[in-house]
Amino acid sequence: MTETGLQPEALPVEPPVNEPGRDLFSKFDPLIAEREALLATGVADPFAIVMEQVRSPTEAVIRGRETILLGTYNYMGMTFDADVLAAGQAALRDFGSGTNGSRMLNGTFRDHVAAEDALRAFYDMPGAIVFSTGYQANLGVISTIAGRGEYVILDADSHASIYDGCKMGDAEVVRFRHNSVADLDRRLGRLPPAPGKLVVLEGVYSMLGDVAPLAEMVAVAKKHNAMVLVDEAHSMGFYGPNGRGVYEEQGLEGQVDFVIGTFSKSVGTVGGFCVSSHPKFEALRLACRPYIFTASLPPSVVATAAASINKLAVARTKRERLWSNARRLHTGLTDLGLKLGTERAESAIVAVILDDQIQAVTMWQALLESGVYVNMARPPATPAGTFLLRCSLCAEHRDEQIDVVIQRFAAAARVAGALPG
Ligand SMILES: Cc1ncc(COP(=O)(O)O)c(C=O)c1O
Repeated sequence: MTETGLQPEALPVEPPVNEPGRDLFSKFDPLIAEREALLATGVADPFAIVMEQVRSPTEAVIRGRETILLGTYNYMGMTFDADVLAAGQAALRDFGSGTNGSRMLNGTFRDHVAAEDALRAFYDMPGAIVFSTGYQANLGVISTIAGRGEYVILDADSHASIYDGCKMGDAEVVRFRHNSVADLDRRLGRLPPAPGKLVVLEGVYSMLGDVAPLAEMVAVAKKHNAMVLVDEAHSMGFYGPNGRGVYEEQGLEGQVDFVIGTFSKSVGTVGGFCVSSHPKFEALRLACRPYIFTASLPPSVVATAAASINKLAVARTKRERLWSNARRLHTGLTDLGLKLGTERAESAIVAVILDDQIQAVTMWQALLESGVYVNMARPPATPAGTFLLRCSLCAEHRDEQIDVVIQRFAAAARVAGALPG
């Protein structure tokens, strides 16, 4: 690791103490104490929500209450699409509930191939590999393609799966300041020219919903002969003319070496993938441990993914709805005087920035009690120690739902003392 190194992005745990007989779980005591202190204030646990019934992509019953879902990453609302459900049901009936095996052995069924073909068509790239999750896609691709003596250069605000991919691999890791083209250029310039380099970026950063200046970053990476991987988890389906992501929107077709994505957001199921036009890309299947040493996705999951991706390719109306919803919510919350993660709606994520944990949890709970579910996020997952209420829009949200959400935000912000003045 270089001087920039990896941030301790995992849990806030104490360093291990080598006392004889020390309980291995004692390192979690600070976490347990923090959680107990929070619950002692009488708030609900934001990290223990149960969806008792799910009515649609935007509505569920939580704690017995009809609730508008505003924190699911179900951006394109595909989870209840009739064709997607039918594909999953048919695969469940015809192929059974699981594969019992690795993709390398007995775990490649017809619909794993169908999902990879759907991805090839969606991205117009010849190489596509499906993983069991997006987390594993980052873990596997990053740790496998950047080896000993080579470099991974990543944005400081990268997702945990990107950090973990770096940890799992043997490459040197260099971080640059979030979305800073100048810092990326400076750090690449300090590295020796010969070794292979992989610059890892995200199209949309999921905490604040801000977009990367990918065009400038890719140009800088190419200037230093680095390959580029872009994680488009939070843009697939609605960013760019064909929904391929921010790289497509910024005119970077053919310039990005690897695109990582997930089935758990716009696609509406579970799974991960990497697509590429690199001529040797498929060799990853022979070397990538998180691809090889785990069971493949159930047939029903890959069948739903394939059906969903094929529909996302032509989902123009849904894309327009999603953007209109994001702008409506962003404007409404801005007008209330709340502090948001971006000045305008840059993506389908609208993040409300709060002062501290108590304010964030109080407001989160007031929203839940009024029938609105949003995600609460706090350090170390958030940038710069912020406490956030993250809203993610869905193409299926109706204008009336968003207007109700804005009214309930106003009331909850009053309860939490989060309004200006
Ligand atoms: C940027 C990014 N990459 C990867 C992942 C992991 O995706 P999955 O849920 O499929 O494991 C996430 C999930 O939140 C993410 O936000």
